[in-house]
Amino acid sequence: MTNSEALLDRAREAAAQSYSPYSKFRVGAVVVTADGEIFSSANVENAAYGSSVCAEANAITTAIGSGARAISTVAVVCLDGEECFPCGNCLQLMREFGVERIINDLHEFTFEELLPESFGPEALLD
Ligand code: THU
Repeated sequence: MTNSEALLDRAREAAAQSYSPYSKFRVGAVVVTADGEIFSSANVENAAYGSSVCAEANAITTAIGSGARAISTVAVVCLDGEECFPCGNCLQLMREFGVERIINDLHEFTFEELLPESFGPEALLD
């Protein structure tokens, strides 16, 4: 498994590409797929604020859109704040693809610590 510091470094590099002129809050995320592939991205905001996309959502959809079907780890960093936690919507995106571990600059969490008792695909799929 890729070590946490390497993943966080990669997330910092991704955060440097953030397009966040409105919040000025630069976020980067890295996902590690079940096959060990790594994808990263940043938050991309929009003048219509609700059309903005989080770093984690960008990284997850890039991984899945590239063929991955399971994600083991997500690393998230913000360059303009102390500690970044995934938003509720991003946790739900992670739930779909089986994320087990979430790390940020200061802590490491199991997925269940951040989103216990959650709704997921097994409720709808055979
Ligand atoms: N943001 C992320 O990209 N990920 C998070 O985990 C928290 C928030 C973004 C969304 C928006 O572009 C900016 O940070 C401020 O909310």
